Amino acid sequence: MTIKAFIFDLDGVLTDTAEYHYRAWKRLADEEGLPFTREDNEHLRGVARRDSLRLILKDRVVPEGKFQAMMERKNGYYLEFIKEITPRDLLPGAKELLEELRAAGLKSALGSASKNAGEVLDRLGIRSLLDAVSDGYSVERQKPAPDLFLHAAQQLGLPASECVVVEDAAAGIEAAIAGGFRSVGLGPRERVGKAEAIFPSLAGVRGRDLLGALEANQEK
Ligand code: BG6
Ligand code: MG
Repeated sequence: MTIKAFIFDLDGVLTDTAEYHYRAWKRLADEEGLPFTREDNEHLRGVARRDSLRLILKDRVVPEGKFQAMMERKNGYYLEFIKEITPRDLLPGAKELLEELRAAGLKSALGSASKNAGEVLDRLGIRSLLDAVSDGYSVERQKPAPDLFLHAAQQLGLPASECVVVEDAAAGIEAAIAGGFRSVGLGPRERVGKAEAIFPSLAGVRGRDLLGALEANQEK
């Protein structure tokens, strides 16, 4: 098994901004009288801003101008949340793993659909631990298309088969599989069950745990 790099999703993997995306959408939905629950939000994990709003609106048709304004309003609420982010908001295990991978000579990249990923990375103080960053500005086709992860792999100069995608979203795991990447899912099986290996979170997870779980899966 040749694994040379890990491509991490950001929201819900390295930091809990998935919760802030939810709260920002929830505020907008409440203001607009749109039904939207935490359960609905599970399907929005990893999904780009425009696609997320489409899912929230369901059958409701909104003129493009209003659609844009709604996306901007949600983003304004989200930006308020992330203003407060500090390195303390890294999820348990995230920084330790990035440091360990670097020390072991493996590469790490970010593959996040978010246009705010750069700001979040800087606030978390982990940009220097990443060899490449692909974000919401990097590609046209968003997850579950594989393009974003392929963009990250290209920046690393590696084929997909030598990179492991670490994701908390069903759309992200689908994207990884579609691109020919190895995959690690974080969270409940109902959400990331298609991943090759599954962990509840990165807390206490070392590089060898990830590699061991992938190897066990390959032998199956
Ligand atoms: C993903 C999040 O990382 O980025 C989604 O999981 C979010 O919830 C998407 O919609 C786009 O983020 P942004 O910051 O560009 O609206
Ligand atoms: Mg995510």
